[in-house]
Amino acid sequence: MAAEKEFFPGLEGVVAAETKISFLDTKQGEIVVQGYDLIELSKTRTYLDIVHLLLEEALPSAQERSEVEDRLKREYDIPAEVFHLLKLLPENTHPMDGLRTGLSALSGYDPQLENCSLVANKNRAYSLLGKVPNIVANSYRIIQKQEAISPRSELSYSANFLYMITGKQPTEFEEKIFDRSLVLYSEHEMPNSTFTARVIASTLSDLYGALTGAVASLKGNLHGGANEAVMHMLLEAGSVVSFEELLKAKIEKKERIMGFGHRVYMKKVDPRALMMKEALKQLCDTKGDDSLYQMCEAGEKFMEKEKGIYPNLDYYAAPVYWMLGIPIPLYTPIFFSARTVGLCAHVIEQHSHNRLFRPRVNYIGERRA
Ligand code: COA
Repeated sequence: MAAEKEFFPGLEGVVAAETKISFLDTKQGEIVVQGYDLIELSKTRTYLDIVHLLLEEALPSAQERSEVEDRLKREYDIPAEVFHLLKLLPENTHPMDGLRTGLSALSGYDPQLENCSLVANKNRAYSLLGKVPNIVANSYRIIQKQEAISPRSELSYSANFLYMITGKQPTEFEEKIFDRSLVLYSEHEMPNSTFTARVIASTLSDLYGALTGAVASLKGNLHGGANEAVMHMLLEAGSVVSFEELLKAKIEKKERIMGFGHRVYMKKVDPRALMMKEALKQLCDTKGDDSLYQMCEAGEKFMEKEKGIYPNLDYYAAPVYWMLGIPIPLYTPIFFSARTVGLCAHVIEQHSHNRLFRPRVNYIGERRA
């Protein structure tokens, strides 16, 4: 018999790394990122500030922020061959799979692929942060047989990303809300995708491989894919009454309701969801139609009453993206784009203090002669 060791299905509650990057402090109700509360940062700081914070371990001065932005803009372009590769994908390819393919293909253009030093990894991280939004927007366009769109360097990083997605230059208000969603999605301790990236990096495999694995992980409905599933559910319902009926029917069938619950927050609210709820209210007020907000709020109250569980970020990010005119299949790729910086920080940290991930099992099969 194999020696029995204590087993935690899904590694629930197991500490998998020591990190200086982030921590979900559920006692204080804070998402600590490099020592700061992410929610507070999201009120006053931009995504570029978070990029600097995660890659340079300090909030930037105005000058440093503009240097980060210039650096990302210089990295916008992706090789023509990668565009060509995306054109070969069948029409029903999900943009997350287009992204996974495009991201993976970038490794061949890195002349220093074997170099996992801090400097080389940081350069790669900035390069990926410039390129991933381009791959996201254009893989979707190409798969949809639409014209490819070029980045516009005169727009801010977030405004350009939103422009490339919708084809329209966003208002300052839309840009601000989109940027805030990127901040909230940027980093979140050790979800499945971050663990995946660190596990891959621990073999000294490269950043592209680690992030490619993370795309696949993040695509699933129990993780990043939930934001798209939420929007489909809201559209299927279409009104407060129908939404409550739909939720009731799903609960009766013991189905998971997308956008609710969280492994770490358990039965507490995800503080990021509250920020996006506020953004949804502002968007609805501006557009003079609060029907989506009313539905979401009714769903939230219903789930609290029936199941005692609360919304996560995906629940409110989905209707916010809808109100911003973003196609549903891009919701999860946008989550990934925002998380690129967090994932890069984790891979950099893993490579700097590496120990190969290699857990054991409790064997429950037979022994045979
Ligand atoms: N809908 C309905 N019930 C849910 C639920 C949901 N979204 N999330 C958790 N629960 C219930 C479970 O059925 C279980 O109930 P029980 O004790 O009566 O059996 C209880 O809450 C604990 O759930 P558990 O399966 O242990 O939670 P987990 O840590 O494995 O799951 C998630 C975490 C995120 C996978 C889960 O909450 C989920 O599936 N959410 C929907 C997908 C989603 O929004 N993902 C994005 C996460 S940020």
